[in-house]
Amino acid sequence: MKLEQIINNRRNIKPQFFSGETIPDDQIKQILASANWAPSHRYTEPWRFVVFSGVSRSSLGVFQSTLYDETISLENQDQGKRDKLLKTPCLASHIVAVIAKNTQTPKVPFVEEIMAVSCAVQNILLSSASKEIAVHWSSGFMPESDAMKTFVGCKSIDVLLGFLYFGKCDQKINKPGKRFSSIQSKTTWR
Ligand SMILES: Cc1cc2nc3c(=O)[nH]c(=O)nc-3n(C[C@H](O)[C@H](O)[C@H](O)COP(=O)(O)O)c2cc1C
Repeated sequence: MKLEQIINNRRNIKPQFFSGETIPDDQIKQILASANWAPSHRYTEPWRFVVFSGVSRSSLGVFQSTLYDETISLENQDQGKRDKLLKTPCLASHIVAVIAKNTQTPKVPFVEEIMAVSCAVQNILLSSASKEIAVHWSSGFMPESDAMKTFVGCKSIDVLLGFLYFGKCDQKINKPGKRFSSIQSKTTWR
């Protein structure tokens, strides 16, 4: 596939559509290696990843559903949402928590570290799409909370940007998507 086709047909695929097949760890390592070639100002390379596989997937599910119980008042709890938090991690083969390290490098504002990590994530998404591996990008449950950051191993000074759920899929994963407005309407030429 040509790069442009991979970019245009890469889709966010929800774990409900995953087949349950386990992806070999080596393939996930190859995909993560593509993240390391993202650009970063002053070579800060601020992307950090924590991989959940095997039984650690269920510990993520138990942790986030317990956090839900503890933080959402009883009258506002939604059993469907809580159930999803508990069970969704085990629908994936691997889950990767994405962290932006605050390297505090002079002349590199933190927003640039987040931009660099976003580039690293796009490399991951495109590398996965080229291998027919489905990925779902989830913000996660309360990613800014101390409890979630501590669970993942994200320092308080750093930012937990979300979770990437990886899986195999029986259906076609690379396909046309939708956008609500054209690139022309988002571009000004001077
Ligand atoms: C920073 C970020 C956070 C996202 N968080 C979620 C999320 O929590 N839940 C979700 O269903 N999709 C999430 N997405 C995925 C978007 O919903 C998806 O990219 C969008 O619907 C466009 O679909 P496409 O990527 O297939 O073109 C997130 C995407 C980004 C970039």
